Amino acid sequence: MAGYHFGWWDVHGVPTDADSGKALRAALTLSVAAAYGSLEQGCRAAAAVELMHNFTLIHDDVMDGDHFRRGRPTVWAVWDVGGAILLGDVLQSLAFRMVSTDMPATVSAAAAARLAAAGVEVCRGQQQDCLFETRTQVEMNEYIAMAAGKTGALMGCAAALGALCAGATEDAVADMETFGNELGLAFQFVDDIMGLCGDPATTGKPAGRDLLRRKRTLPIVAALESDTAAARSLAELYLSTQAIPPTEVAAAIELVVAAGGIQRAGDQAQARITTALAALPADLHTPDLVALAQLVAHRNR
Ligand code: IPE
Ligand code: IPE
Ligand code: MG
Ligand code: MG
Repeated sequence: MAGYHFGWWDVHGVPTDADSGKALRAALTLSVAAAYGSLEQGCRAAAAVELMHNFTLIHDDVMDGDHFRRGRPTVWAVWDVGGAILLGDVLQSLAFRMVSTDMPATVSAAAAARLAAAGVEVCRGQQQDCLFETRTQVEMNEYIAMAAGKTGALMGCAAALGALCAGATEDAVADMETFGNELGLAFQFVDDIMGLCGDPATTGKPAGRDLLRRKRTLPIVAALESDTAAARSLAELYLSTQAIPPTEVAAAIELVVAAGGIQRAGDQAQARITTALAALPADLHTPDLVALAQLVAHRNR
């Protein structure tokens, strides 16, 4: 199941060159370690954050009832929910094993503590996200606190671990955590936009899934806050208890656009990139880190 999820082989074990994911969090850890001139020291931590991330994706697809990820059926859809839960648990265990061997003891203990704290935050955010599906209202600050947990925390951890493994000071590790947290928020805001307007051929997920589940994603929260006729129609759709017919998804997306939800979400993503770059110490504005920040803002997958 792990090899299938990572795109190495198909459901029968026949090798494929399917999408393995962008490995953005691992790239973040390695680019931070490299910024300190210690690329090698970041390798185990980079693998750990990527394992942790994939554990959360496999469980997330169960929670969201999503059948597709990276252009292929999700693990729970191919096997079953029990298998997906166990595979996620295995990847989490492997993540902790990664940081518990072949590292200086003090770095290893601090890395494991950070990974554990991020894991707790991801779970908190994920539960909030699920609870929002049945709420009648979600405030902008509640949405941001949720996204900071489900996505910001692990990106913050990824960046912090790069600095930690490179032997940076505690202050520098904290700055890197802020850089990653802010990037993570921007990343989620863009993910939310792509969930409505992305091209399924590029994102690997069908469009409109969030809307069908009445997810309170950023463009929706922002649209509902606007004092417009489109916002009132969208609110009616979200408050209704009837299932949203798939044929109405395109019209609902138009309401989000008309209420300014996509525009505001894009502006907020850009603002978080600016905050992220401001948290980077001046001598660490390496081309790789700046390029990663721009990639988060301008990605289409
Ligand atoms: C998807 O993350 C989950 C979110 C936090 C939005 P990615 O888009 O980084 O997933 P992969 O690993 O590249 O597929
Ligand atoms: C992303 O969840 C965060 C985690 C997986 C912890 P989403 O549900 O927002 O992301 P996608 O769109 O399924 O990747
Ligand atoms: Mg999901
Ligand atoms: Mg989710």
